[in-house]
Amino acid sequence: MADKNRNRPIGVFDSGLGGLSAVREIRSLLPAEDLIYFGDTGRVPYGTRSRETIRRYAAQDIRFLLSHADCKAVVVACGTVSANALDMLRENNDIPIIGVIDPAVEAAARATKNGNIGIIATPSTIASGAYEQALLAQNPDFRVTSQACALFVPLVENGFVDADDPIPRLTAERYLAPIKESGADTLILGCTHYPLLSAVISAVLPDVTLIDTGYEAAQSLAKLLSEREMQTPTAPPGTSRFYVSDEPQGFAHAASRFLGLSENEPLPTVERVNIAAY
Ligand code: DGL
Repeated sequence: MADKNRNRPIGVFDSGLGGLSAVREIRSLLPAEDLIYFGDTGRVPYGTRSRETIRRYAAQDIRFLLSHADCKAVVVACGTVSANALDMLRENNDIPIIGVIDPAVEAAARATKNGNIGIIATPSTIASGAYEQALLAQNPDFRVTSQACALFVPLVENGFVDADDPIPRLTAERYLAPIKESGADTLILGCTHYPLLSAVISAVLPDVTLIDTGYEAAQSLAKLLSEREMQTPTAPPGTSRFYVSDEPQGFAHAASRFLGLSENEPLPTVERVNIAAY
């Protein structure tokens, strides 16, 4: 039966900017949907924190979204939260919640030809073993090589993303050496910040298929809305509202870049919230 409130917004959150890679894909796949985004810029990065802290932050993030908007679904556009807190978020909230792990793993399983798959993600995501377990549950014969890349998130947050810049290039060469040696033909970018480093990663691993978690999560959301007849009946374009937990100005500029807005389009409006109060 169709959802009576199909025009409710979709909530999306991440520790910072990275989840905007999912927002870009959602806006292109589902242009009529209204979105509300929270980026926890005051507490980024999550990926070097304990599981307990990540779960506490994630509970506050979703409480903020659901207290601000009657969301019909939430996309956890963060590999670190998906790996460490998705079970808890699903138990405590009565709406569909999409994480990035299962969609990315299914895409990697479809893409690989030699069954040899690499995963790069934040240290806490790699420590959780979540991607690896999900891949081996798909096919126990997969060979999986995991690598934590702690410096990638600060590089992205600070705009060091060009393939010809020696700083991200050398960092990527160091982190990706074990993936190169493993002979993986497919690499899951297990953190939603990493698609911004795609050019750098592809320069180091030219023959490897990259799996973009934000893109796959957006595909999974589109499928869910269609199967449950939850798509908004309103005409595009939908609205996007952005909230952060620190200074909004820098985020507005970065969001405009991430979302591919032209120079003539106004910067998105970004409001600051006190996330500790949620
Ligand atoms: N973008 C997030 C992820 O997918 C988190 C990065 C971080 O805060 O460390 O893992």
